[in-house]
Amino acid sequence: MKTSPNMFLLLQLTLIFLSFIYFSKSNASNDLSCHPNDKAALLKIRDHFGGPNGPLSDWHTNADCCIDDWISVGCLAEQQGSTVGRVIAVTFGSTFGLSGTIPAEFGDLPFLGTLWLTGALNITGPIPNSFSKLKKLRSLKLNSNNLSGPIPTFLGRLKRLEEVDLSNNKLSGVIPASLATLPSLSQLNVSSNHLCGAIPTGLKKLEKSMFEHNKCLCGAPLAACK
Ligand SMILES: *[C@@H]1O[C@H](CO)[C@@H](O)[C@H](O)[C@H]1NC(C)=O
Ligand SMILES: *[C@@H]1O[C@H](CO)[C@@H](O)[C@H](O)[C@H]1NC(C)=O
Ligand SMILES: *[C@@H]1O[C@H](CO)[C@@H](O)[C@H](O)[C@H]1NC(C)=O
Repeated sequence: MKTSPNMFLLLQLTLIFLSFIYFSKSNASNDLSCHPNDKAALLKIRDHFGGPNGPLSDWHTNADCCIDDWISVGCLAEQQGSTVGRVIAVTFGSTFGLSGTIPAEFGDLPFLGTLWLTGALNITGPIPNSFSKLKKLRSLKLNSNNLSGPIPTFLGRLKRLEEVDLSNNKLSGVIPASLATLPSLSQLNVSSNHLCGAIPTGLKKLEKSMFEHNKCLCGAPLAACK
């Protein structure tokens, strides 16, 4: 059969079309891979908690934090513009045996919505100032550790916060009034700390058990201040 110029053109077009499909597919899977900034922050967190052979040894330097499903790391899996491949959750429970202070690098995960670091008992020191950068944070649980220092005022600027659990630590000072301005906050558990002073009036509808066992917290839902 003699190949007509038209057939030739058709073949070329088909090839162009196929390669177009191929390249758009490979771009899509690249988008799902861990954003390099997020991976860098996670590796610093791993190294802070005992290095590549420590409790977070599952976070391999040469692996992808999203595609390879790093333990305790959640990524945005669906394609939604530029947020694909970003880390949205880091959740550690008591089984990890983490100890030391909270690394500042959690603040370098700008898409983080959920941050849980609970029940480790050996987590000490303050809630880092870098948390003030976590503008998408909705759930913060740092309960049952040995955290000390104040409840930071800047938490009141993280407007998406819905639940905050800081119970069972050694936090001291007052509950910042800024926390009462959070529009979606339904859980603020600060029980069993060393807090003192009046509970901001905007928080009086929260459950009593969230404020109990402190040094000298007072006002609704606890007893009136003297
Ligand atoms: C806390 O750390 C100490 C010393 O590093 C260790 O002996 C202890 O088992 C740790 N406790 C927990 C609950 O991880
Ligand atoms: C953490 O607190 C527990 C209970 O208060 C205590 O037994 C433990 O020694 C503390 N660990 C550190 C590392 O401070
Ligand atoms: C607050 O935390 C304490 C200690 O972890 C717990 O016993 C209590 O049930 C919590 N309160 C609420 C309302 O979740």
